[in-house]
Order: sequence, then structure tokens, then C-alpha cells
Amino acid sequence: MTPITESPSLCLLADIPDGNAIEVEALVNGEVESLLVYRHGDEARAYFNVCPHAGRRLDYVPGKFLVRGGQIICAAHGATFTAESGDCTAGPCRGDRLRGVPVAVADGIVRLA
Ligand code: FES
Repeated sequence: MTPITESPSLCLLADIPDGNAIEVEALVNGEVESLLVYRHGDEARAYFNVCPHAGRRLDYVPGKFLVRGGQIICAAHGATFTAESGDCTAGPCRGDRLRGVPVAVADGIVRLA
């Protein structure tokens, strides 16, 4: 039985290849938002799918992200973000960061926290 206080689920952790990210649409603060959900082992991070450089989506085609070696690379102009923190480490918005969305993983399910 599902407790009524449970946070909305975004996806199964197993839906995300380890070290990669998928797109999930979710209701955040009353708005449907495109989110990037990144997996590292048993943990997940989520960010709005919006680059702080020019406000473009991060994916190169809908739902497909450039993620390599723990770095998320914006498909528009190549800004590079540390997947664990969202910090931009290279590119045109170096020093800025992705806007994070708090998530938690329990029983293999990624939920808004
Ligand atoms: S919009 Fe992402 S690097 Fe320019």
C-alpha cells in the first residue's frame, strides 16, 4: 500500500544507465518541467534541463544527453558541468551551475525529495 505522504516518483533507478542520464518530465512547483536525472551507482541527481548559459536545453536530441566521465556537456555550446554538483567547470558559463531539483532514492525508485 502506498502511503499518501510519499513523494512523486520520477523513474526507476534501473531506468538510468550507471554514469548516464535520462530525461523525465515532472510537476515541479505546479509546472511541468523537463528534468535531467543522472545516476551514479545507487545515487541520483536531478537538474532542470536548462543550461545557465543561454537557457537552451542540455540534450542534443530530446531525452539524449552528452554525459562522459561524470561530466554533463551542454549540446548547444559545450558548457561542461560536474554531474555530482551541477557546477560548470568549462565553457561559456564557467562558474555558474545547473539548477538542481532535490531527489532521493529508496527501494530502487527515484523520487522528488
Ligand atoms: S546554452 Fe548551453 S553552452 Fe550555451
